[in-house]
Amino acid sequence: MPLIEVEQLRRVYASGRREVEALSGVSFQVEAGEFVSIMGPSGSGKSTLMNVMGCLDRPSEGDYRISGQSVSQLDTAQLADLRGGEIGFVFQTFNLIPTLDARSNVEVPLVYRGFGSGERSKWATQALQQVGLQDRADHLPAELSGGEQQRVALARALVTRPSVVLADEPTGNLDSDTSESIMRLLQDINQRTGVTIIQVTHDEHMARFARRIIRLRDGLIQQDEQLDPGAVRA
Ligand SMILES: Nc1ncnc2c1ncn2[C@@H]1O[C@H](COP(=O)(O)OP(=O)(O)OP(=O)(O)O)[C@@H](O)[C@H]1O
Ligand SMILES: [Mg+2]
Repeated sequence: MPLIEVEQLRRVYASGRREVEALSGVSFQVEAGEFVSIMGPSGSGKSTLMNVMGCLDRPSEGDYRISGQSVSQLDTAQLADLRGGEIGFVFQTFNLIPTLDARSNVEVPLVYRGFGSGERSKWATQALQQVGLQDRADHLPAELSGGEQQRVALARALVTRPSVVLADEPTGNLDSDTSESIMRLLQDINQRTGVTIIQVTHDEHMARFARRIIRLRDGLIQQDEQLDPGAVRA
């Protein structure tokens, strides 16, 4: 069974008296362990697709299944549970809480899931080790570089051991060297842990760190390309 199944997905936004069709019938599957880049011009539906895959939004038509569970059959609370259990999010703007140090930021999803402080600290320390930031655990976000802040955000996404990490332009606010090191880290974590990674990027070079590129245009898949695993990346 594929981890992710998107079937004839349509998403129409009602904005005033007009309707905007952001996704016009998109179908694809993602197997557990894949690393996928989603590309496409501004407005082509990338974030809309990520929101549906992240169980933050529902399709207008068609179906979305993650680990075999169809989101259309779940109520809002069940959707939130599914999201908390299966999905880790990484954002362009990191979205760290400025008053919490790195470790406490990484613990946040565990607070929501009701873990005690001992376990939270243990898991957060492990996640910070995964991203190579164990020696920055007590730094506030303002005391970290942009790349380090994004690594903390990645640790926060990984700490619940999700089946998939969804990253919407994770390197959009980083310079190109820092972006490459984040991409190498994503590759490394994907290969070491088997966590599925789906990222949106505007940058062809960053996209090619993945093993597959799905290109959207006007709410449709224009191309779904498997990259040669033997090709030298970076
Ligand atoms: N909440 C909303 N209400 C109405 N229209 C929306 C809403 N969100 C997105 N849209 C429209 O849906 C289309 C797809 O938007 P989406 O944010 O998915 O694009 P995108 O590919 O992520 O673009 P970008 O690269 O600029 O982030 C756009 O035309 C946008 O204006
Ligand atoms: Mg977007």
